[in-house]
Amino acid sequence: MRHFLRDDDLTPEQQRHVLDLAVHLKAAPYDARPLAGPQTVAVLFDKPTLRTQASFASGIAELGGFPMIIDGSLAQVGVRESVPDVARVLGRQAAMVVWRTHDQSRLEDMAAFSGVPVVNALTDQFHPCQVLADLLTLREHHGQLAGQVLAFVGDAACNMGHSYLLGGATAGMHVRVSGPEGFEPDPEVLLQAQVVAQATGGSVAFVADPVEAVSGADAVATDTWVSMGREAEAEARAAAFAPWSLDEELLSHADDEAVVLHCLPAYRGKEISAAVLDGPRSVVWDEAENRRHAQKAVMAWLLESRSGECS
Ligand code: NVA
Repeated sequence: MRHFLRDDDLTPEQQRHVLDLAVHLKAAPYDARPLAGPQTVAVLFDKPTLRTQASFASGIAELGGFPMIIDGSLAQVGVRESVPDVARVLGRQAAMVVWRTHDQSRLEDMAAFSGVPVVNALTDQFHPCQVLADLLTLREHHGQLAGQVLAFVGDAACNMGHSYLLGGATAGMHVRVSGPEGFEPDPEVLLQAQVVAQATGGSVAFVADPVEAVSGADAVATDTWVSMGREAEAEARAAAFAPWSLDEELLSHADDEAVVLHCLPAYRGKEISAAVLDGPRSVVWDEAENRRHAQKAVMAWLLESRSGECS
């Protein structure tokens, strides 16, 4: 049984295959119908969402399936009943479970007990669907991913920082993440990304200085300084993160052809200036669209294993 719980659940070959399929499905949206029936996919949210709900709902429909959107505030997973009990129930109703939740361990329990493929639609630790969409976007703008330099500035301890490390390393990229003291990536994630990078010819590093991190980069990414669930820390974070704000001055240190990524929602004047977000280097709307194409490819890949077709 395949799951997509974190970026390194895809080998480099599998990631390439999924991205190739995403390119194909972007050009021919109805060419894969693995959910025709329609089969139901449970899509459950314990945190706010816009892009993720919209892109999974439309993507599941294009794959021939039906998205069963479940409001986590009603389901109260882990409060009214345990994650394993919810997993057993959803696995009897749906062909797949897509879940946005808090700790990664909840998602792992869902995968262990549901009996169907499970997709990470964001946890506190990882956001692999977003990074897959970002890799698709970079392929469109720069061609080959291997050897390109990807810099992430901001909260290097958050889900996006971790997923860029693992997903970028899998693609053979040189990934630099940068953030203030106290917001370094989880050492275990950094170590695992190093292991992956050694095999793919990429590299990963935490670089404290944002200018050094961005220097010569082919892509510069950032994310909100206040991830969902961290709202009480907003003021302290705004002060600590100010030197990592992606404005035109910081971007001027990147390569002349560099593109700018942001998973959205964006806070202009905080982690990114309006001039950069709305400027000519920004590819954020392509990224938002590419969520659908990348996630369709992942879902098709997960369902391949059920039908015995492996790649
Ligand atoms: N790091 C952000 C990503 C939002 C898509 C968060 O977790 O809120």
